[in-house]
Amino acid sequence: MKLNDIHDFASALAIKAGMLIRSERDRAQLSYDFKEGTELVTSADLAVDQLICDSIKQKFPSHLILSEESSPDIGKVEGLSSPLWIIDPIDGTVNFAHGHIQSAVSIAYVEGGNVELGIVLNPFTNELFSAKRGQGAFLNDKPISVAQETNLNRAIVATGFPYEKSNIEPMIKRVGAILRHCADIRRLGSAALDICWLATGRLDAYYESLNLWDFAAARLIASEAGAKCGHFSEVPNGRDTQFYENDLLIANPDLFPKVLAILTAAE
Ligand code: IPD
Ligand code: CA
Ligand code: CA
Repeated sequence: MKLNDIHDFASALAIKAGMLIRSERDRAQLSYDFKEGTELVTSADLAVDQLICDSIKQKFPSHLILSEESSPDIGKVEGLSSPLWIIDPIDGTVNFAHGHIQSAVSIAYVEGGNVELGIVLNPFTNELFSAKRGQGAFLNDKPISVAQETNLNRAIVATGFPYEKSNIEPMIKRVGAILRHCADIRRLGSAALDICWLATGRLDAYYESLNLWDFAAARLIASEAGAKCGHFSEVPNGRDTQFYENDLLIANPDLFPKVLAILTAAE
């Protein structure tokens, strides 16, 4: 199947998932649980996961699916062979559960070892971010690009924090350093949207350690919008940088080395 057809299938699926996310929030009884004691998961995360995975399995029975809620370890077992779908059914679950509007469904498609397609939809604002590799990035079909800010002390930098807080000292040092050198910090609560907001110029830089499903789609969107995508620590030998989850740094190309210098000096 051609990438354009995969794109149309994935966009339609994201929109269907978005409708489910909205209707699940309107339901009187959302049920809650905590994975590993700290990480919130709702009945909506599971319902959206099932909708997306069932649709992919029906359309592409031979494709692999790496999905946060139902198959988070598939990469560890199978390696990242493709065709592979990488799914975060709801990115920004804490926002979702607290009635905030910064949540998204994230769908990435990997073929031949590369992320070829990324779709991130915020169903509460009806913003659909998308990119095909080598073909630019779009917000609701309009081309987008990163901000041109070059001045660090005017830059707005987004980040996020893990659910598990036993080792937050280095993070606090980095936040302190960024706050001292940049205009301001945002913690919006959805990594996929943070990265898409950077892609469309609403943020100037972003850094955090994540899981692959949080960023696979958005990273392609940012890269296609002109962002430099990398890391503020060394990527281990043999790891493909596009899939490496720790210490991600994404920024416009002018700001990237400047933010990198601050983050590495804060270690
Ligand atoms: C989380 C969000 C958050 C980030 C966390 C992620 P979830 O994803 O992207 O912004 O800081 O690290 O786990 O749990 O809402 O899918
Ligand atoms: Ca997530
Ligand atoms: Ca999630």
